[in-house]
Amino acid sequence: MTDISSRKADHIELALQSEHQAQQGSGFDRLRFEHSALPQLSLDEIDISSSFLGKSIAAPFLIGAMTGGCDSGEMINQHLAEAAEACNIPMALGSQRAALELKMPQDVRRWAPSAILLGNLGATQLQQHGLDLARRAVDSVQANALVIHLNPLQELVQPNGDRDWNLVLEAIQNCAARLQVPVIVKEVGAGISPTSAKKLMDAGIQWVEIAGRGGTSWASIELARNSSAIQRDIAAPFVDWGMDSIDLLPAVHAACPELRLIGSGGVRHGLDIARCIRLGACISALAQPFLAPALQSSEAVIEKITVLKEQLRWTLFLTGSRSLQALKNAPLQAVPESFR
Ligand SMILES: Cc1cc2nc3c(=O)[nH]c(=O)nc-3n(C[C@H](O)[C@H](O)[C@H](O)COP(=O)(O)O)c2cc1C
Repeated sequence: MTDISSRKADHIELALQSEHQAQQGSGFDRLRFEHSALPQLSLDEIDISSSFLGKSIAAPFLIGAMTGGCDSGEMINQHLAEAAEACNIPMALGSQRAALELKMPQDVRRWAPSAILLGNLGATQLQQHGLDLARRAVDSVQANALVIHLNPLQELVQPNGDRDWNLVLEAIQNCAARLQVPVIVKEVGAGISPTSAKKLMDAGIQWVEIAGRGGTSWASIELARNSSAIQRDIAAPFVDWGMDSIDLLPAVHAACPELRLIGSGGVRHGLDIARCIRLGACISALAQPFLAPALQSSEAVIEKITVLKEQLRWTLFLTGSRSLQALKNAPLQAVPESFR
């Protein structure tokens, strides 16, 4: 196993453990919808179909970027891709860096010939290898868009992580201007603030995935992998670093109304997906909740998608919202100041 493959295998094992989920929870529960005792509609007539990147999809959520580039990564991707295809739900790939560096086959398009697939690279790889790597990431899976992930906290905690973040924004800007497909920029669990979102928008980015604090904690996962006592000492106060998705979504939406947002980071069920839509996201993304089903089978992933869709439909029903458009204006109960 290469270094990258063994790191990815560690990530899968650790991401499944609850101690590496944000210990204070996601905060999504702070947003409570007003309950409608009179929905005045039938559950059967609720339509949650949506659109993303110009294509129609079955529901406004996607399978968040997870791993590839290790033995179980291939099997995980097959199960996710087959389910994405069967359910017409978009799938974001995990980082393609290892597959491209090691020239490994990337069969995901074979398993999902018509689903929306999002390629994935780290921002520091883009800064180091430029547009050529981005083009190869897209071409190798015929991706509908390329996701670039920003993970400065993870890189600091990770042994031998990338410390030089000069010229990352310039590399993103170049990529957005010259790549043939849309570029989406995401965090991995510490969140994209309004300040960072504005910089990205000025660099030509139209899609941002919030990926705030509240779900999988990459600082915690990398800390568990780091055996250096001094590095562990330095990292300890930062395990909880980051900004909550529930606070970032309305803040970024207010600061950059033209930006299209993907709500993620601690989204755990269909009610959380509804909360993201209510707070200004076009679509939501879940990563860790798909990991256990993906290790099992494509049927298990399909079942997970069915549950999420039904939970979302229940939320529309219980708020008296006939459509996703109506959900965007559903009344809230006990609304914190920042959501108004
Ligand atoms: C096992 C695993 C591997 C991941 N690998 C990647 C990756 O390669 N690229 C990326 O952009 N994000 C990656 N992520 C981060 C997720 O896409 C997501 O932003 C983060 O986990 C927060 O969402 P969650 O709370 O729903 O897990 C990974 C997440 C998990 C659980």
